[in-house]
Amino acid sequence: MSQSNIQAAFTGLFNASPEGVAIAPGRVNLLGEFTDYNDGYVLPVALDKACHVLWRQRDDQLIRVASMQYPDQLDNFASDANYEHGPHVWSPYVRAVVAAAKVSGLTSKGVDLLIDSQVPEGKGLSSSAALEVSLLGALNAMNNWALSTADIARLGQRAENDFVGCQCGIMDQLVSACALAHHALLIDCATLDCTPVPLPKDWGILVVDSNHPRQLVDSEYNQRRLDCEEARDQLDVASLRHATNRTLTAHRADLSDNAYRRAQHVIGENERVLALVDIIKMGELPLASSIMAAGQRSLAENFEVTVPATDALVSLAHEALGNRVAARQTGGGFGGAVVTLCHQNDIDALQAIIDQRYFSETGLRADIHVCRPSAGLEVKTFE
Ligand code: GLA
Repeated sequence: MSQSNIQAAFTGLFNASPEGVAIAPGRVNLLGEFTDYNDGYVLPVALDKACHVLWRQRDDQLIRVASMQYPDQLDNFASDANYEHGPHVWSPYVRAVVAAAKVSGLTSKGVDLLIDSQVPEGKGLSSSAALEVSLLGALNAMNNWALSTADIARLGQRAENDFVGCQCGIMDQLVSACALAHHALLIDCATLDCTPVPLPKDWGILVVDSNHPRQLVDSEYNQRRLDCEEARDQLDVASLRHATNRTLTAHRADLSDNAYRRAQHVIGENERVLALVDIIKMGELPLASSIMAAGQRSLAENFEVTVPATDALVSLAHEALGNRVAARQTGGGFGGAVVTLCHQNDIDALQAIIDQRYFSETGLRADIHVCRPSAGLEVKTFE
C-alpha cells in the first residue's frame, strides 16, 4: 500500500494523523546459518520488502495497535503492564518489544500504532525481526530514547528471547536495522561489527519460496541451539566460534552424535562465510555455487533442517544452470525459502525450470521474488 494510503488508514482508525513512520526490511541470508548464536559470521541481505509502522503519541499510557494485514484486529495494553501474549497472532511481538524496552529501563509513552508489512510471514524471511525493528524505530523516535541501530537490534532479539520464546540470534534484527542498499552485510556476531560487501552488478538474487508448510519450527530451532550449547560445553570453549575441527575430533567420544554434527556444521559454515565474501569480491559465481552447495549439504546432513521441497528447488536450480547458480535453503530452517545467486541474464531460465518442474516434483507451487538488496531501518517524521 502507498505511504499516503497508509497515512489515510491511520487517520481513519485513530481519528488523528500519524506523526511519523519507521520502515524496516525483511532479509534473506546468503550464507552463515545457525552461526549467529554461536558468535560466528553471517552474510545476509535486506529485502526490498519491509514493515512500516506509523505512530502518534498519546497523552496517556495506553498502547493501541492495528495491522493492515489483520483488519479486524486491534490490541490495547498499558505500556507499563507486565507482559502477556495478547489476543492476536501478531500481538506477542508488539507486546514483547514494549516489555523488552521496559526491562531495559525504557517505558514507552502511550501511542497509537499502525503496522503494514510486506514481508511474507513464516517463510524464513524475518517478518518478525522487521516488525520488531520498525516498532523499536518508531518508539525510539517518539520517546527520544537515542538508541543506536545496534541497540535496537539487541532489544529486538531480547524481545524474542525473553518474551516471545524463540532463542534466535542477532542476525535478523541487525541486518534489518543496519543494512546498506546494494550490499550484503558481513556480521561478526561476536562483536556485532558489520562490514558491507558490495554485490556484483550483473548478479541477481532470486528468493524462491517453497511454500512448504513450516511446522514445529520454534521448538526444533530451540533444540538445535541446545545441541550447540552441549557441544560448546563438552569442547570447553566460550562459544563454537572458538572450536576447530581438530578439537572436535579430539573430543569425538565425549559428544552425542547430534552435538558433534551441529558443531561440525558451525565450524564449516563460519569458514564458508569468510570464503564467500572473497568470492563475491572476485565475482566468481562457480566458486559461490560450490561453497553454497556445501552449505546446503551441511544444513541437510549435519544440522538436519532442510525439507524435500527446498532440496528439490536447489537441485532444479543446478539442473537449469549448473555452476552458474549458487543456491541453498535460507533462514531458520524446516522449509521456507531458497536463495539463489546467478547472472541477471540467467534469471529467466531459472524461473522457467521452477515453473515447469517444481509442482510435478513436490505438489507445491513456488513464489519467486527477484530481490533488490535494500537499506535497513529508516525513520521519518511528518511535517
Ligand atoms: C532465524 C533466527 C536467526 C538465525 C537464523 C538461522 O532466522 O532468527 O537468529 O539463527 O534463523 O541462521
